[in-house]
Amino acid sequence: MAKNRLFPALASLTLAASLAACGGEAPTETAEDTMTEDAAPMDVAEMEPEAIVKARHDNFEEIGDAFKAIRGELEGSEPDYTKIATQAQIIDTNAGKVGDYFPEGTGPDAVKTEALATIWEKPEEFSAAVDKLTTASAALLTAANASDAAAVSAGVKELGSSCKNCHDQFREEDD
Ligand code: HEC
Repeated sequence: MAKNRLFPALASLTLAASLAACGGEAPTETAEDTMTEDAAPMDVAEMEPEAIVKARHDNFEEIGDAFKAIRGELEGSEPDYTKIATQAQIIDTNAGKVGDYFPEGTGPDAVKTEALATIWEKPEEFSAAVDKLTTASAALLTAANASDAAAVSAGVKELGSSCKNCHDQFREEDD
């Protein structure tokens, strides 16, 4: 049975009444920051729930921006695969952190979040959705590094479906 990466309950769950609204700020999107492969794992267990939620938003925003940049590049007449690989690396690095950002105590009963309680009710399914993301991001990165146009195109589709797969099950609907 796959061991999920959700952390046990945080020791002290303090609930700030004034939560920063999600996604309000511009994402701090600097390739330099996020490109470092395998940055030292953040000790999420030491963080306050609000800080974790903020970090997970920023992480997703960076994934979203990088994915947008790749799709934009592919729309041009001569896609630059070096640029695509740079963005694919950001996605792959950030994708590797997603599983750590959902410890117990960061669900909708505790903080302001679009994450559904289902994440903690069905940890195995959620873990599988994270795996789908990391598999797709790794495949896209490999394809981009090889400047393999067909594989990049297939990889973008696969990656997109991994986002949708998880959002459909585990994220509040936008509209
Ligand atoms: C394993 C589940 C999962 C996968 C895979 C996933 N997401 Fe998300 N995403 C979420 C959840 C849950 C939230 C809501 C987080 C919150 O509100 O705390 C979210 C939020 C977001 C947000 C809004 C940022 C925010 O939190 O305000 C963006 C943008 C986003 N995801 C983009 C993507 C993209 C692009 C992909 C695929 C490349 C992707 N996500 C893959 C679960 C996932």
